[in-house]
Amino acid sequence: MDLLEIIKSRRSIRRYEDRDVPDELIYKIIEAGIWAPSSNHCEPCEFIVIRDREIKEKLSKISPWSKFIADAPVAICILSNKASSCVIMDGSIAVMNMLLEIHSLGLGSCWVDVKYNEKLVRDTLNIPDNYEIITVIPIGYPAENPTSSRKSVNDCTYRERYGNK
Ligand SMILES: Cc1cc2nc3c(=O)[nH]c(=O)nc-3n(C[C@H](O)[C@H](O)[C@H](O)COP(=O)(O)O)c2cc1C
Repeated sequence: MDLLEIIKSRRSIRRYEDRDVPDELIYKIIEAGIWAPSSNHCEPCEFIVIRDREIKEKLSKISPWSKFIADAPVAICILSNKASSCVIMDGSIAVMNMLLEIHSLGLGSCWVDVKYNEKLVRDTLNIPDNYEIITVIPIGYPAENPTSSRKSVNDCTYRERYGNK
């Protein structure tokens, strides 16, 4: 599939089949994150793979919009070392690579906003203070097929100067 097709057909998936995701696929997903660009090539990201049901259940309580973590066979927490001068950007771009790899492997995932209760994630996963918690992404085989839409290129693009359509 053309990369743009992969980008456009990826959806946030919040319902998963009751079917395990093998470690080989998790390995590829983390590799996709590692191969993202990073500021000064500092490679600040580290990853926690979570399969334990009790831990997933705790993480599902981050916010009202994270309940589906409990039902995914696996989740990955993405960390970015605060030593990076672009800690959030470095972490976010790694996650985007991972979301695209997840989709291209026939799996589904969804970015979960951890800012709502970052302490819960930090305490549950024993994360040191020198790491920014970028997100926790549940991963599983999709049990839903949502659609989405986007604004058009013309709606958000200018020529030469802002406002010049
Ligand atoms: C920074 C960020 C935070 C998000 N937080 C959540 C969240 O906490 N819970 C959730 O269900 N979806 C979350 N999402 C997913 C968005 O709702 C989703 O990407 C958006 O509705 C577009 O849908 P699509 O990903 O299927 O194209 C988040 C996405 C981003 C990029």
